This record gives sequence, structure tokens and C-alpha cells, in this order.
Amino acid sequence: MRHLVTLDDVSSEEIHTIFALSKDIKTKFAQGIREPLLPGRVMALLFEKPSLRTRVSFQAGMGHLGGSSMMLGDDVGFGKRERIDDFTKVLCEFVDVIVMRCKQHETVEQVAQHATCSVINGLTDVSHPCQALADLFTLSERVDSLADAKLAWVGDANNVARSLAVACGKLGVHFSIASPAGYEFAPTFLDSLREQCPDMQLTVTADPHEAVSGATAVYTDVWASMGQEKEKAKRAKDFANYQVNEQLMASAPADAYFMHCLPAHRGEEVTDGVMDSPGSIVVQQAGNRMHAQKGILAWLLGAQGS
Ligand code: CP
Ligand code: NVA
Repeated sequence: MRHLVTLDDVSSEEIHTIFALSKDIKTKFAQGIREPLLPGRVMALLFEKPSLRTRVSFQAGMGHLGGSSMMLGDDVGFGKRERIDDFTKVLCEFVDVIVMRCKQHETVEQVAQHATCSVINGLTDVSHPCQALADLFTLSERVDSLADAKLAWVGDANNVARSLAVACGKLGVHFSIASPAGYEFAPTFLDSLREQCPDMQLTVTADPHEAVSGATAVYTDVWASMGQEKEKAKRAKDFANYQVNEQLMASAPADAYFMHCLPAHRGEEVTDGVMDSPGSIVVQQAGNRMHAQKGILAWLLGAQGS
């Protein structure tokens, strides 16, 4: 049974297959064609944290593909009424795929371990694979060749950054990252990244101006992720020099794109001027969450694009 818990679960070739499916589905969708690639398939969503993009794009996408979806609420008693292995085995009797957003990454791993249907990680504190796939799909729409692109991450080396780094490594994109002291990638993550993607171009620095130099796109995320709200004041101080503003964008090429997974905290990690600039592709990124996830679903559930 195939799952998407982190991008370690997919090869470069499989990412290209997902992108080809996504592109085909997106192109037809724009022409008013909604091919029922997944008729009768059912998706369950189990979310322990808030979501607009992930939840709605998955549900809308599954509907467009001819399947259906249901958001599981507190009444199912996940983690409370019965053991997670019992819960998972039973849920898989009813549905074809489970999309989970969990406080603990281990919870998604545990469900995937016992699931007889596919499990997709819709964000944990460790990774956000669907976001990174949609982002690299977005970049591929903007550049002639991903192999010539450089993605610069400025800020916390968090869940989104980890998934983007792996996606870039697998697709030949130069990934550069500037984070303040104490918020960098863990050495164990860097070891695993270099092992998986030995030829990857990777720049790790504390200097945001160095990171964005020569970048095709500059990417940032909130300073305090969901679950880190208590650290907000300390992080605001620690990340003060890492705001993506007009001055920082001036160190990037004039035609560099601005990217953000959203939701954004305007005035903190990014200024209004950058969010609303002509180079900002944040809405395209968000829209592509749905198209890329349709590609993921079509690939994972075995349907082939026509
Ligand atoms: N980017 C993202 O995952 O957004 P949501 O938290 O709204 O799902
Ligand atoms: N790093 C953010 C991403 C939100 C989509 C968080 O985990 O809250």
C-alpha cells in the first residue's frame, strides 16, 4: 500500500508522473472538463489543526474527480475511543484514502503503518509534502527548466522548508536557506537530505541576502507555526532580520518571484508591498494545491490520466 507521509516516499520519476497527471487534469479543468478519474472513491479527512487550503482543495478536488469526501469530526473519537490501530483498520474498511493533519508526525506514521488504504499527510510539524509538490509544480509552470531554477527560503527551517528541500533535491532545483541561529535544519535532516539527493545544490547560510542572491523565487512562511503560538513574541525578535521586504527582494534578481504557503502574517515575515507585488505568485500556488493533489490522488489511487 502506497502512502505519502513525507517526500521520502516518492522518487523523482514518481514526482514527474504526478506533475504530468496534475498538468493534464488542470488543463482540462480550465476547458470545463472534469474527468471522473476516481468514480466512487471515498476520502476521509482527519484534521487536528485548522486548514483552509489543504482541506478545501482536497475535498473540492475529490468531488471534481467523481469521488466523494467526508470530514471526520470529534465524534469518531480518534485517539480517544479505541486504539489507533483498531481505528485505522476499521476506517480503511470504508474509505479508499485518508488525509490527515496531525499535531504529532508520529500519529500519521502510526496510521500509515496500520492502514490498508492510502494515507496522505496534510501537514505535521515535520513535513508538508502536498504543499511542496504544489509549489514545485507552480515553479515548473513559471520557468523553462527546473534544473536551472534556484529556490531561496528565508526564515524558519520548518515543516514546509523540509519538504521543499527534499522536493528541490529530487527535481534538481538549487535550494538555498537562510535561518537565524537556533532555527536551522537539524544535522540529521541535512544528512538524510544529502544521502537521498547526493547531487543536490544546497546553500545553507544565516544571511538572507546571500540566500536570495540569484534566486528564481524567494519563499517564506510564518515565524511561529501552528502549535508554536506561545513562542510568538520570542520568535518575532529572533526573526526580525529575516522579513521578506522590498530591501531583501532588491538583493534577488529583479524578476524573482515571491512565494508563501499561506496563511501569511502580513507585516511580520512579509510586507504588504512584497505580498502584493507583480512577482508574487502566492495565489497561483494556493490554486495549484488542488491541481497537484488531484495528480497525487490519481497517482496514488491508481487511475491513469487519459
Ligand atoms: N498552506 C496550507 O496548508 O494552508 P492551510 O493551513 O489553510 O491548509
Ligand atoms: N509552517 C506552517 C505552515 C502552514 C501551512 C504551520 O505549520 O503552521
